[in-house]
Amino acid sequence: MTHPTPASSASATDPRPIGVFDSGIGGLTVARAVQRALPHERLVYFGDTAHLPYGDKSTAAIQAYSVKICDLLLRQHCKVILIACNSASAAAYELVREYVGSKARVLNVIDPIVEYVGRHYAGRTVGLIGTKQTVGSNVYRKKIDALNLGIQLQALATPLLAPMVEEGFVHNAVSQSVVNNYLSDPALAGIEALVLACTHYPLIREQIAEFYHAGRTDVLDPSDTVAEALRRLLETHGLVAPAGAQPPKHHFYVSDFTPSFEDSTRLFFGQEVDLEHYPLWE
Ligand code: DGL
Repeated sequence: MTHPTPASSASATDPRPIGVFDSGIGGLTVARAVQRALPHERLVYFGDTAHLPYGDKSTAAIQAYSVKICDLLLRQHCKVILIACNSASAAAYELVREYVGSKARVLNVIDPIVEYVGRHYAGRTVGLIGTKQTVGSNVYRKKIDALNLGIQLQALATPLLAPMVEEGFVHNAVSQSVVNNYLSDPALAGIEALVLACTHYPLIREQIAEFYHAGRTDVLDPSDTVAEALRRLLETHGLVAPAGAQPPKHHFYVSDFTPSFEDSTRLFFGQEVDLEHYPLWE
């Protein structure tokens, strides 16, 4: 089987898949936004469920996992690798870009929303919630400060939220109480927008918005912004997939399989998908 080399003209098409990876199934919220925005693109998704959660791991560990996952996605001839995990984007984006080189384009979930914040919130105070890894890395602060637009970022690690969502606590009294507790933290006082800097949080977006109901805080879900950035990247580099008569057949791999992960795909992707076990670490 032959595979086309990357196209150089913006009008060319490229049928190769887009690789998407996350620590688990949370990145399916990003994959879902991509599928909605770019329905002709075929996705190869890898969820590193054997090492979940990344949010509590060291930078070195996340980098090692990410590189190995990229090997798999490159073997699958992916034209783009989308790091659909804030923790991995924070810890491993630069390394992955260097590692992948010219074999594929690499996109993270941080730069598109930072750019959006720069366009809409100059001179204002913006909050952010994410895992310990994402918040501790300070990567959002560095990127927002580099814009030099007078945006003040106030970030808070909210490590209970991802496992809570994974357990299906998304629209009940327990989740509302945990959400309210975190969002009442003084670290987030006076913010005019809140970035949901973890792929699990779009699933509790309504509850977060509910907390701010009386105020004027915008809740920013980066998924659609990421999908738009991906569209621009594909168009700019002549990588858009040709429109087929049938919807593309996506593949969803996990490094550790349990039926409960498969059940949860409905929550994250909007429909249940067949997870294939790919034991990358055996
Ligand atoms: N997907 C991760 C993120 O966006 C959250 C889950 C984890 O800690 O692995 O940061």
